[in-house]
Amino acid sequence: MMRNLTFKTLSPKSQKQVSITRPYNIAVAGTGYVGLVSGVCLAHRGHKVTCVDIDEQKMTMLQQGISPIYEQDLEELMYLNKERLIYTTDYKSAYKKADAIFIGVGTPEQPDGSANLSFIATVARQIAETVEKDCLVVVKSTVPVGTNDKVEQFIKDFLLKDVKVEVASNPEFLAQGTAVKDTLEAPRIIIGTNSIGAEQTLRKIYEPFDLPIVSVSRRSAEMIKYAANSFLALKISYMNDIANLCELVGADILEVAAGMGFDPRIGNKHLNAGIGYGGSCFPKDTKALDYLATQHGYKLRTVKAAINVNKDQKILLYKKACRRLITFKGLKVAVLGLTFKPGTDDLREAPSLDNIPLLLAQGAEIYAYDPVGNKNFSRIFPELTSPTEKESGAGSISYVASAEAALKGANVCFIFTEWEEIKKVKPLDYKRLMRTPLVYDGRNIYDLEEMQKTGVEYYSIGRN
Ligand code: UDX
Repeated sequence: MMRNLTFKTLSPKSQKQVSITRPYNIAVAGTGYVGLVSGVCLAHRGHKVTCVDIDEQKMTMLQQGISPIYEQDLEELMYLNKERLIYTTDYKSAYKKADAIFIGVGTPEQPDGSANLSFIATVARQIAETVEKDCLVVVKSTVPVGTNDKVEQFIKDFLLKDVKVEVASNPEFLAQGTAVKDTLEAPRIIIGTNSIGAEQTLRKIYEPFDLPIVSVSRRSAEMIKYAANSFLALKISYMNDIANLCELVGADILEVAAGMGFDPRIGNKHLNAGIGYGGSCFPKDTKALDYLATQHGYKLRTVKAAINVNKDQKILLYKKACRRLITFKGLKVAVLGLTFKPGTDDLREAPSLDNIPLLLAQGAEIYAYDPVGNKNFSRIFPELTSPTEKESGAGSISYVASAEAALKGANVCFIFTEWEEIKKVKPLDYKRLMRTPLVYDGRNIYDLEEMQKTGVEYYSIGRN
């Protein structure tokens, strides 16, 4: 039965499925944000795609048309392109006859800040032992400069058949929540190759996307990804630093950002001061770049500064609230927003993860609300309500289904994520629902004057 498809983020051009005369046979290793979204978008642009993952449960979900990640328009595209998409745990069948194999597996952060490349190495070796025809291996995962060379070496070391396997870098710039749109409507596609043949193949694969292509060397492509992400992280930390100074000197960071953003050399994106950046990329990539520099005997001072500012920024409001309240013991605390940003159920490096343990240790009775993140968060911090379950002196946490439920009778409220559902809460609602309307807003959602007029004691970032 044909499903009625409604797209939320895609332009009419992006919504249209493309048919091409010579589709490539593409395998994609890893079905996380990068792998799955890339695979589905490559299928939507006409290629035959096999998505590979070791997680059987995930594959079963995907085969049933269910996306294991919360991402706008993804399930719609999975449905639309189901004839061109295969999901399997059998990497051999996927790699054997592939024209190109995209690697989108994770490169998680290690305790020293470096990227863990073991998943990439494993996939590279599996590819080498499996391929039966010439093919192009495309590294999409974020990897330190020089990793593509290593992948090439691993493949050479383990190659069983007499075939030519080339390696190209093709970093991904998608943001969570708009991943599909960012892929189909990317401002540019970066391809890093060390041979004309590899460049031509990648250009052909991306031809149906009809997007600008920037072709560079492999090492430059690897660096572009880290440099771009760290620059954006730096931009945010810079604005947070300036915001903190604004508070001290009586300026308003929203006005300052608006004024700065008019300068096209600065641009008006990623200038929002707040409770610090989180997510799976900025924190990890800044640390990995810093680690790479240190390994080469270089001090990357700007990136290090961005990392340090962000660390402090995440618990700035908590510290402010501590000074105001002295202790949270016995206080009902409403927490609005748990995910690292709206539009995703991802909690990685979310400011909530830094603040909730501090509040719990201080004896707070937390009532948390997130439109999609409650379930994931409760896996890390299980609901603890009865006094017998609690350690003595420690607080408790309950998950509620609305902002109103969290605010009812609360002594203090923290806002960590700017979900639309949270932005809809009116100043008067805080006044009406809370026992004492004291609000710490990490996302600068409200107008200062309006909050004051309504009788809400309101603290935000960079505004006095
Ligand atoms: C980011 C990049 O945008 C993307 O290009 C890259 O491929 C992966 O990393 P993502 O982490 O999904 O994507 O989200 P993004 O929207 O960039 O936000 C990252 C973090 O910065 C969030 O915690 C967000 O709240 C914060 N942020 C963002 C700010 O604090 N201020 C801003 O102005 C923008």
